[in-house]
Order: sequence, then C-alpha cells, then structure tokens
Amino acid sequence: MDSFNDLTSPATLLATRRSGKARDMTAPGPDAATLKTILSAAMRVPDHGKLAPWRFVVVEDDRRQALSDAMVAALLAEKPEAGRLETDAIRGFALQAPCLVIVLARTNPASHISEWEQLLSVGATCGLLCVAAHAQGFVANWLTGWPAYSPGVLAAVAETGERVAGYVFIGTQMRPLEERPRPDYDAVVRVW
Ligand SMILES: Cc1cc2nc3c(=O)[nH]c(=O)nc-3n(C[C@H](O)[C@H](O)[C@H](O)COP(=O)(O)O)c2cc1C
Repeated sequence: MDSFNDLTSPATLLATRRSGKARDMTAPGPDAATLKTILSAAMRVPDHGKLAPWRFVVVEDDRRQALSDAMVAALLAEKPEAGRLETDAIRGFALQAPCLVIVLARTNPASHISEWEQLLSVGATCGLLCVAAHAQGFVANWLTGWPAYSPGVLAAVAETGERVAGYVFIGTQMRPLEERPRPDYDAVVRVW
C-alpha cells in the first residue's frame, strides 16, 4: 500500500488528495451507496445562512450518451465553426470516467447572504466532493471548460438561474498519478 492509498489517517488523507485525469479513469467507480456517502460528505460544507446554494446531478450510466448528444447539439448550434477535433472532444466529455456528478450553483439573489459568499460555499462543496471521493479510495477530477458555460448545455442540465460549478468525474486511476507542484508554503502563508 503506498502513501496515496493509506487513508486510515485523516491527516494523510488530507495531505494526499490530488486530482486524477477524467480521461484516464477506469472502473470501478463508487457504487450507489458509496456515492451517497461521498455526496453526503460534500454537503457538510460551510454554508452561511443554511441556503444550500448548490445541488448535485448524478448522471446515470444510461444517460451519459444523451448528455454527450446534448453537448454536441449545443456545440454545433453555438459554434458552427467548430472543427472535428473540438467536436470529438465535446462528444467524449460526458462519456469519461465511471461516475459523473454535475455540481450546480443555485444562488439566492433575495437572500441577505451575498452572492459572493454563496459562491464560496459552492466552490467549497466541489472541493469537499473531491476529498470525499479520495476518502473512499477513488480519484476525482473537477472540470469546467466549454460544457460549463454553454447556454445550450445549461438548458439541458440545469434549471433557470442555475450555473454549472463543475463536472466532477470520479473513478479509479489507470496510471499512477504524478504529483503536481504545490504552492510554496511561505509564499502563501503570513503570520500577521
Ligand atoms: C473551478 C475549476 C475548474 C476547473 N476546470 C478545469 C478544466 O476544465 N480542465 C482542467 O484540466 N482542470 C481544471 N481544473 C483543475 C483541476 O480540477 C485540478 O485542480 C488540477 O488538475 C490540479 O489537480 P490537483 O487537484 O491535484 O491540484 C479546474 C479547477 C477548478 C477549481
């Protein structure tokens, strides 16, 4: 067992989380019960005003192709100049990895809690979702890109007023993960 898999210590768990690459993920992904555990953990996020300004859309296996089709249709409608490479990339986007959760931001403009603070909670839930997947022995990958900003895709996956905070792919990494350079501690921490 390498240190990445030794998740018995909470400190190790937090110190070893890293993203996988959705395109390099393979089975298994979390089963329904484990995914529920992961999503339940992700909901335990700081949330000023208890607004839950986020929600999760679990894209079932048998709906992935429909989502892929919707993305390609939106691409061709919004970017008729898109070439084959781009179209193929968008076609494959929703088909990556064993598990896909779309995190939607549903901020409440009428609340006395600012939108800024609500969006901070949305980002926090995405991050915690990645940590929770790691805690269950999986890798996660939080992606956005064109599918997160296309009005056509938004109409297919979200309700009016919602935004895509991320597509979070979860699975098992095919290849060992390379470490990514992390910020220099002293560059980002000051004692005041
Ligand atoms: C809001 C948001 C959107 C992101 N979108 C992408 C993306 O579209 N493509 C990508 O390669 N990485 C994207 N990333 C970065 C990855 O999720 C991940 O953080 C990065 O690959 C570094 O891996 P790490 O989590 O191990 O630091 C995004 C991160 C955030 C916070």
